Amino acid sequence: MAVEIKSKTEIEKMRATCRLAASVLDHIAPFVVPGVTTGELDRICHEYIVRHGAYPSPLNYKGFPRSICTSVNEVVCHGIPGDRTLKAGDIVNLDITTTLDGYFGDCSEMFVVGGETTPEAKKLVDVTREALWLGIAEVGPNKRIGDIGAAIFEFANGRHGYGVVEAFCGHGIGREFHMAPQVSHVGKRGNGMRMKPGMTFTIEPMINLGTPHCDILADGWTAVTKDRKWSAQVEHTILVTEGGYEVLTMRESAWRPKWAA
Ligand code: MF3
Ligand code: CO
Ligand code: CO
Repeated sequence: MAVEIKSKTEIEKMRATCRLAASVLDHIAPFVVPGVTTGELDRICHEYIVRHGAYPSPLNYKGFPRSICTSVNEVVCHGIPGDRTLKAGDIVNLDITTTLDGYFGDCSEMFVVGGETTPEAKKLVDVTREALWLGIAEVGPNKRIGDIGAAIFEFANGRHGYGVVEAFCGHGIGREFHMAPQVSHVGKRGNGMRMKPGMTFTIEPMINLGTPHCDILADGWTAVTKDRKWSAQVEHTILVTEGGYEVLTMRESAWRPKWAA
């Protein structure tokens, strides 16, 4: 499948929708506290997105019933907001996608409920953030897509021994939620197509304390680790530029490595 190259006007629209999606993470952050339900977080995000003239892309996407994904502890991704109450020490991924002026922007962030968790879970979150940025650093014109996942895998699995999920990938994004190319998080160096300026795609590694394998719960959506050990994920939408990359879902408050400051 051919990968779309966005025009200048389209890139402006991608910037706008990605900026809005990222701002949802800032808006919701103070509400991610012990005692809140994932359903309440969904409601607050939904209201904010609609108030800003956008649509919460997950809602009714292939039958998904809510406006964001909330993935707690052993949930790898696509957790459905509901009655689950967050407790201190939980780690939760909030995955936000907006459709603004026809264009999708997609990002996610980890939150440590109550601000403190076990050293094991904290390290998992830290390694996942670093892994995403090591993947981002591989983005640039003429570079190969496989190098993104290779960098993530070498660090998260090779260096830290974590399971890197293969069942879900990053994806091209634009006027569609998911489009070519597929961005594996376990790629091989020198493999895959070459990136070109104007391509936009997500990188969204899911990193497990244990094995990389997942089960899907009976709701048809919620992906959990097969061994039920905890999992973390972070996501950005990236534009390939002449000089390298632009992180379209970056925001002032977001974590970034010192070398990307
Ligand atoms: N935002 C997710 C991603 O990063 C996709 C969620 S699809 C949904 O690709 F239907 F679960 F919302
Ligand atoms: Co995505
Ligand atoms: Co997402």
